[in-house]
Amino acid sequence: MPRTGPKREDELMRHWRRHATLHTTPRRVLEPVEGAATLYYSRDLTPIAAHPLIETLGPAAGHALLVQELYAHLEFTAHLEHRVVTQVAWELGIGRMLPWQQVGHRLDANKIYVDEAYHSMVAVDFGQQVHAHSLVAPCVPAEPVFLDRLRTICDRAPAALVPDIRLLFVVISETLITETLRQIYTDAEVLPCVRAVIRDHAKDEAVHRAYFSRLFTRWWPRLPVAEQQRLGAYIPQLIECYFAIDVPTSRARLLEVGLDGCQAQAVIEESLSEHAHRERLATATEGTLRLFRELGVFEHAQIHDAFERRGLTH
Ligand SMILES: [Fe+2]
Ligand SMILES: [Fe+2]
Repeated sequence: MPRTGPKREDELMRHWRRHATLHTTPRRVLEPVEGAATLYYSRDLTPIAAHPLIETLGPAAGHALLVQELYAHLEFTAHLEHRVVTQVAWELGIGRMLPWQQVGHRLDANKIYVDEAYHSMVAVDFGQQVHAHSLVAPCVPAEPVFLDRLRTICDRAPAALVPDIRLLFVVISETLITETLRQIYTDAEVLPCVRAVIRDHAKDEAVHRAYFSRLFTRWWPRLPVAEQQRLGAYIPQLIECYFAIDVPTSRARLLEVGLDGCQAQAVIEESLSEHAHRERLATATEGTLRLFRELGVFEHAQIHDAFERRGLTH
């Protein structure tokens, strides 16, 4: 990864045709490799695969669960980009959303739109390669669970606030995704090709992070205080939505590798603990929450209380 920093990333956005992975990176082709790095996904990020009950089933079970976690990551990426981020980027790009943005910032949103559509396509392409290569049939839901949670949040919110809630969700996801990707591509046990695909994505996302950090810095102070308070109170729900765990799908995968219902329940309860989940979430959102803190978001009692109520730190 090249050196990063706001100035460097602004430069990369300006010279997007020379730097975006769409223009600079070849198609990654999954091939058999010899060597130590043989995992399809990071073991540290797949706690159910490391459970002692899975080890008793033999290495194929753990392997299949890591492949499933990679499918989940790719599905999540394809849906997040295609169903949410491109929609908001397009509205920013044509000035329907934040119409006061300078034309240069609108053009940048259009570049992000294209990047995200490309990331979605790469996720689908790579998922198909993983299937052909691993012969593990994907066990994934019709759509990732975060989409339903996001829909529910928007359905229950006052209609006038929904566009801002969607934009806020994109600010959150775009400012935290680079860190979550880094945890995967820096894992030396993961297959080089998988790491390359995820590193390519992270390279673009570092540029998007800079864009959405600056956008938030311009947007938030323009909002009336009452709207800051109403909107900011959604932040904890939106963070939880992004990291929502799909327990039924995890259970289905555990049954698929050979556990019975009681064993699958035990693995879920012992591996997907609330405490570990909260810790992961706190680490992943560190940079996003720092941005919010710098803008005084948590000085509103309503927002602070919303975090307290959901047991999230800020
Ligand atoms: Fe992306
Ligand atoms: Fe992005």
